[in-house]
Amino acid sequence: MSATNFDIAIIGGGVIGLSIARALTGHQLSVAVIDAGQETPPATDAAAGMLAASFETASGEASLAEALYTLGAQSLAAWPVFAATLEEETGLSLDYRDDGILAVAFDEPQATALKISGDQLRARGSGASFLDGGAARRLEPALSDRVVAALYAPGDAQVDPRKVLIALRTTFRKNAGVLFYERVEHVDCSKDTRQLTLSNGERLGVKLVVLASGAAATQLIAGLPPPPITPVKGEAFAVDRGDNEFRHVIRCPAQPALPYLCPKAEGRVIIGATEIAGRRDASVDDASIRRLRASAADVVPAVHDWPETERWSGLRPATPDGAPILGRDLRGPDGVFLALGHYRNGILLAPACAMALAREILGGDAAGASPLTHLQPFRPERFDCGVAAREHG
Ligand code: GLY
Repeated sequence: MSATNFDIAIIGGGVIGLSIARALTGHQLSVAVIDAGQETPPATDAAAGMLAASFETASGEASLAEALYTLGAQSLAAWPVFAATLEEETGLSLDYRDDGILAVAFDEPQATALKISGDQLRARGSGASFLDGGAARRLEPALSDRVVAALYAPGDAQVDPRKVLIALRTTFRKNAGVLFYERVEHVDCSKDTRQLTLSNGERLGVKLVVLASGAAATQLIAGLPPPPITPVKGEAFAVDRGDNEFRHVIRCPAQPALPYLCPKAEGRVIIGATEIAGRRDASVDDASIRRLRASAADVVPAVHDWPETERWSGLRPATPDGAPILGRDLRGPDGVFLALGHYRNGILLAPACAMALAREILGGDAAGASPLTHLQPFRPERFDCGVAAREHG
């Protein structure tokens, strides 16, 4: 079978892969996206669409946490235009809401931890404010009397992740992108034109490859180390709040995963999500849903009465330090770019990562160094200290 040719193949048709495809639009490039479909439950299904730049952090060094906060804040700032233009292109709603996010506390130690986080956020220029229980309930009357304090991040927002994915697919097709629902079996980078072999035997010849396959990422390319990605399963469910008022995303105290409630359009409330490392299956455990519901009802008592409408699970792609892997890998062949490991933040980071990757791909400087200094902390080689030290002095 002869190969079909494209300029760029993006492996992974999730929110990250399709956002990169969209950022490449208008540059006269033919783009193929290859998605393995439901074989690995997509990260979008673990997500509730929180754009929680103020709350999600990396677990590595302080400088990495700072860099992730900056990237998240830049992406959050890009979301209103990203959402509005995507809605305009497709005529579809993304249910973008900018009512802010409230993290709540039930006792003094939790309140103190939120106060410290608030001080750190304000030092970074955020408009976050620390509220006592009464002020938190005035803002969100659905909150329980048990809430003694809250940290309010008025700039944080949310979207409906499934709606985002559908809109990105729609715009990709409208822009003449070609979507393959196949697994990529093999990528041969030994020649100028890279050859991808798909699970149906089809072959694609491409100039550049972007790996954006989330928790499904495997070692596909000779010369590149296996991506250090672990699936972290998240189970979630939705309830119907009817016409009860409930506006803000609420983050509950950690116990040990951090339950949250995200009110969406048409009375839907997403309550998520567990964190189970290493599991690849799509099952949803009754006990997990019971625990999530109990935690959510501690914070918003009306949850007890709201009927479940749906439950599901998805796989987050986690890295060892909780931060994404972005850019060309200096250890691998030319023309291969990574956009992996967005873990809990794929929806938030999609606009900024897509713009950054598109710039790196289109800039394509011969040495392979990132033209974007703010992507340096996320470079793939950081998990291989020897190479990183050699290449970056
Ligand atoms: N972004 C929230 C989660 O992954 O559960």
